[in-house]
Amino acid sequence: MKIFLDTANLDEIRRGAEWGIVDGVTTNPSLIAKEGRPVEEQIRRICEIIDGDISAEVVAVDAKEMIREGRQLAKIHKNVVVKLPLIREGIKACAALSKEGIRTNVTLCFTPAQALLAAKAGAYIVSPFVGRLDDIATSGMDLIRNICAIYKNYGFTTQVLAASLRHPIHVTESALAGAHIATMPFKVLDQLFNHPLTDKGLEQFLKDHAKVFQESGAVG
Ligand code: G3P
Repeated sequence: MKIFLDTANLDEIRRGAEWGIVDGVTTNPSLIAKEGRPVEEQIRRICEIIDGDISAEVVAVDAKEMIREGRQLAKIHKNVVVKLPLIREGIKACAALSKEGIRTNVTLCFTPAQALLAAKAGAYIVSPFVGRLDDIATSGMDLIRNICAIYKNYGFTTQVLAASLRHPIHVTESALAGAHIATMPFKVLDQLFNHPLTDKGLEQFLKDHAKVFQESGAVG
């Protein structure tokens, strides 16, 4: 499973990149707005840090304008994936951009039927939102499982990107469900490292080593 960071913050992206485990980045208009720089400039900077798929979202809501905006975004860098909302106009724009060879990420997906439409329109990625469904007492993970099953049934090549992940269990369950990609905030990526027995075990290893090789002056 690929790991993406769901942020437009350059410091977070740099820190993730240093670990060597970040395959791409997803952004949305809210995340870009938080950073306060024009979309094109911010996306270009992100592309300079991570050599992988970088999703940049359109803000138009009619297909014609989405296609125009999508073409502009795709010109920023070869790794840009154009993000489109899963509405009628978004699906229309997805079909048109896909035919031109522009890769798309259809976002704000909340049902398996919507994901079917994205695949039919030739989406490169579909983004089902897990946490936002959990928020309204509906299983977000069932959505991931159902989309993966449907895509497998028919051999769709659209990648399932589990989005709106809020904690490490969401990440593990997305992997078990067969999601191709999990995107997460930096905080969740950082949490994936943690286990108290890892810390305790390392402390003991270092203590034992120091007792014999440092306190005695021997070289170990
Ligand atoms: O990738 C979608 C993500 O940004 C939404 O996350 O936590 O706002 O539901 P959240």
